[in-house]
Amino acid sequence: MVNLGILVSGGGTNLQAIIDSIEANRLDASIRLVFSNNPNAYALDRARRHGLPSKVLLKEDFPSREAYDNEAVKALKDSGVELVILAGFMRLITKPFLDAFPMRIMNIHPSLLPSFPGLDVQKKAVEWGVKFSGCTVHFVDEGLDSGPIIIQAVVPVLEDDTPEILSQRILKEEHRIYPQAIQLFSEGRLEVKGRRVFVRDGHADAGPLENPRVTIF
Ligand code: GRF
Repeated sequence: MVNLGILVSGGGTNLQAIIDSIEANRLDASIRLVFSNNPNAYALDRARRHGLPSKVLLKEDFPSREAYDNEAVKALKDSGVELVILAGFMRLITKPFLDAFPMRIMNIHPSLLPSFPGLDVQKKAVEWGVKFSGCTVHFVDEGLDSGPIIIQAVVPVLEDDTPEILSQRILKEEHRIYPQAIQLFSEGRLEVKGRRVFVRDGHADAGPLENPRVTIF
C-alpha cells in the first residue's frame, strides 16, 4: 500500500485510470491529495466526484517557483503522501520539491523517451515520420523528462495518423502502464541503480516489433 499525491493541470484521464484501478482492487494505493495549479482543471471535478481531497495553489500568489514548490511539498507531506504522481501537471518541479521526495516522484510522458521530450510530442512524432511511438513512465530528476525509466509501452504510428489520433492511441496505453508502475512501487519491487530501474521478479517476455509489417520474407 502506498499513499499518493496526484498533481494535475488538465483533463485528468490518467488520474481517472488510477482511481479506477484502485476501485477495482488492481492497485494497492490510496489517493491522499489531488493537487493542481489550475482551478479549472477538469481533473478536479473527477476528484470531487470520487470524494478525494484536493488543493489548488495559484502561481501568481507566490514570489518564486521555489516558494510555490515549498508550499506544495508542505501540503503533500501534511496529507501523508509517500509517492508523488505527475499526471499532466504543466509545471516544472524545482530542487526543493525533488529533495523532499527523492526517487519518489513519477511522471508519464507521451513518447518513447529519450525521443521527443518536452511539449507537443505526438505532433513531433508524426512530423518526424517515426514508425513507432508510445509512452514512458519514469522517475523525475532535475532534467526535462530525463529521469530513470520504469516502463514503456509502444504503439505504431500509422500513415493516416493525425497528432490527435496518435494521442488517443498512446493515452490508452498510458492508462494501462501508469497504474502498473505505481503498483510495482507499492509492492517495493522497483530498484533504481543509476539510470536503470530494475523490476524484481519481472518477466522479460517482450518480442520484436515492426511497422509497417511487410510480408516479403
Ligand atoms: C498525457 O498525455 C500525459 O502523458 C502528459 O499529459 C497528458 C495528461 O493527460 N504528461 P490527462 O490529463 O491525464 O488526460
